[in-house]
Amino acid sequence: MTARAPAKVNLQLSVGPPRGDGYHDLVTVYHAVSLFDEVTVAEGRGQVVVAGEGAAEVPTDDTNLAVRAVRALARATGCAPAGSPGVRITISKRIPVAAGLAGGSADAAAALVAANELWRAGLSQGELSQIAATVGSDVAFALTGGTAVGMGRGERVTSALAHGTYHWVLGFADGGVSTGAVYAACDRIRERRPSPPASPSLDLELMAALRGGDATGLGRHLHNDLQAAAVSLHPALRRALAAGEEYGALGTIVSGSGPTCAYLAKDARHARDLAAALAGEGVCRAVAPVAGPVPGACVVRGATGAGEGS
Ligand code: C5P
Repeated sequence: MTARAPAKVNLQLSVGPPRGDGYHDLVTVYHAVSLFDEVTVAEGRGQVVVAGEGAAEVPTDDTNLAVRAVRALARATGCAPAGSPGVRITISKRIPVAAGLAGGSADAAAALVAANELWRAGLSQGELSQIAATVGSDVAFALTGGTAVGMGRGERVTSALAHGTYHWVLGFADGGVSTGAVYAACDRIRERRPSPPASPSLDLELMAALRGGDATGLGRHLHNDLQAAAVSLHPALRRALAAGEEYGALGTIVSGSGPTCAYLAKDARHARDLAAALAGEGVCRAVAPVAGPVPGACVVRGATGAGEGS
């Protein structure tokens, strides 16, 4: 059973002070874009195989998020012996690893959807979301997809009203960055400031731009509290961000904890031109024109190999 799940960018990422449990309360606006990983779950003996973009960096042990997701589903449903889900998981990656695009979370969400189908467990989207939230902060969104507001540590997801299709260029950087390290750098930067960070709140102007299908307004209101921290750990991002303005992007932002940059284009043609210009400038390791929003995790091939999803 094969499912796919999308990468995300954060249109708004507002971070509160650190909590007692090592996480930060957030207000974020997630946006799923057309770059997908595929995960196949089949009967097996606990094997994990990873192929594609950055495969060598993906763990194949119990820390793999797809493995953790399948185990959590097995525990919740009793469909397979807990601790030994008896499946073979094959992950086909196109989303770069540790890039701020929630690729690991996409793999977990796709694995949940595929295993739910393989075992005919019949869990609803809401039930899968509850399991997803225990696996990682961004997994519930990878199930939901579209454009959505995330609260708590990001796992409380509510779909947002958004019109239109937005065209982006993703600019991938060399090397990845640990999400935890970027949050820690953000805390250190804030410690030097006289006043503590305010409680995060939703940017209503950004939400109005999304409701109106207003790409220019959206570009003006993109905001990421982790951006300064990501740049401090990855100074080359400064040049990559500046190139967005030079080449007429409506807005440029570090995606999540980085180091991927997301450039908002005027339309599909501008996205192709922007991608070519950014590639020519050499500010990114690779570029990918994508569009959003796209749906969350869904089955694409069943046991018979017949197409079942979009
Ligand atoms: O939940 P996830 O495994 O994606 O989080 C990875 C790390 O990112 C956490 O261990 C934590 O250090 C940091 N994080 C955070 N606040 C959040 C989400 C993640 O501090 N809301």
